[in-house]
Amino acid sequence: QMGLKTTLLGQSIHYFEEVNSTNNVAKEIAASEEEGTLVIAEIQKGGRGRMGREWVSPHGGIWMSVILKPGIPLRHASRLTLVTGLAVANVIRNMGLDARIKWPNDVRINGKKVCGILTEAKAEVDRVEYVVLGIGINVNMDLKDIPESFRTGSTTLKVELGRHIKRVSFLQDFLLELEQQYINFKTQPFSHILNDWLALSDTIGREVKVTTPSRIIEGKAVGVTPDGALIIRKADDTKEEIIAGRCIYVRP
Ligand code: BTN
Repeated sequence: QMGLKTTLLGQSIHYFEEVNSTNNVAKEIAASEEEGTLVIAEIQKGGRGRMGREWVSPHGGIWMSVILKPGIPLRHASRLTLVTGLAVANVIRNMGLDARIKWPNDVRINGKKVCGILTEAKAEVDRVEYVVLGIGINVNMDLKDIPESFRTGSTTLKVELGRHIKRVSFLQDFLLELEQQYINFKTQPFSHILNDWLALSDTIGREVKVTTPSRIIEGKAVGVTPDGALIIRKADDTKEEIIAGRCIYVRP
């Protein structure tokens, strides 16, 4: 119906003009839906970001959630965030823009955020029943469409490219790229994907300050673990692994 290039992702699509959050809808239907089902909306009234933050979702963006059933242990679910970030960055790079990934999940162009990913999983004991990949991409908005308090540090594909982007063909390309990365994820050692991710990440080697709900860790980002946790070397030379948090670059 929309000229899909994929055989798994997007075979079933739930399209909404307006929704609270595509992740909420996806979680409600995930148990009874096939793997690959897509929930997508023109606008979200209650878009959610990581760590309880709001995600501004006006007209012109791509706000969607992908339901996957990878049958992996829960501790590996965060790997899918890296897989998704890599797929988004690759598609944007194919448009000629220098997209980079800021750990764990921000895709940025010239240091400005163009995409965020919110991965949510439900597990039975340690097996994942489903994973919802929530992907928000600032596509055709102008900066004035983003409320002022959210504007700093953000950009859109239209602003960066200086032209309107065809969202349907972007979506076709993205779903194909995500499907290929997902197949790699299921069939290859994760280290392969991690290497590709590392090549596009601009976090490793930087002085960072990471805020988690319980504390703040400062030091140099020296790597990621196989599960995607950030490894930080602190001033006292000890290392810490952080599975989730908000990362700030101490120097731009
Ligand atoms: C972040 O960077 O904090 C993650 C942002 C994730 C936003 C997307 S938009 C589609 C999906 N629905 C939501 O409510 N959030 C995600």
